[in-house]
Amino acid sequence: MSSTITPISLSSSSSPQDNIDGPLFPSSLISPEIIAILPTDYTIRPLRRSDYHRGYLDVLRVLTTVGDISAEQWDARFDWICSRNDEYYLLVVCDGDDRVVGTGSLIVERKFIHELGLVGHIEDIAVEKGQQGKKLGLRIIQALDYVAAKVGCYKSILDCSEVNEGFYVKCGFKRAGLEMAHYY
Ligand code: ACO
Repeated sequence: MSSTITPISLSSSSSPQDNIDGPLFPSSLISPEIIAILPTDYTIRPLRRSDYHRGYLDVLRVLTTVGDISAEQWDARFDWICSRNDEYYLLVVCDGDDRVVGTGSLIVERKFIHELGLVGHIEDIAVEKGQQGKKLGLRIIQALDYVAAKVGCYKSILDCSEVNEGFYVKCGFKRAGLEMAHYY
């Protein structure tokens, strides 16, 4: 993949609130190289409101509990995320039947340190069970890396369990530090 990525403005020119089922963030932030190497008929693109009906939440259930989210609750959360679509970059992979089979998120944190540096947080990576092993997880991470570099992040970080360490190493990450947590 190309290593020459020119940072772009963080403010997107259009939002899905202008277009009821538009992409959450500009499609130009999806790496053309990743689109080109997906399996035939698969696509990778920003989340859309209508992905509620394409199995998005079922894909997340591979990762953890989701609960019963009604269409109204989905819309309210989607609208909230849309209003912060220079911070929340959620993308999906769809198969040839236009079903969501994978997803991942990048959340961009704006800091004072490192001269107002931006840090990407990679979250909620999930690939449907029957679709695992096709390099979709890798493509999701590569696509999120591309977004992070494009919007000007100087690094991306993530937390994962030991069982997934090998996957992230294959994606080019290395162990750095130690996660600690308070649960509320
Ligand atoms: N341990 C070691 N290596 C792995 C693992 C693993 N758990 N999973 C995949 N790999 C390897 C593959 O063998 C492949 O290696 P290769 O290039 O030598 O062939 C490479 O990593 C890429 O694998 P993909 O096919 O892209 O992986 P997949 O599409 O199956 O997605 C994922 C991996 C996302 C972990 C998937 O198994 C999944 O959804 N798991 C359940 C949810 C989950 O645990 N998500 C991660 C949570 S952490 C977070 O969200 C920050």
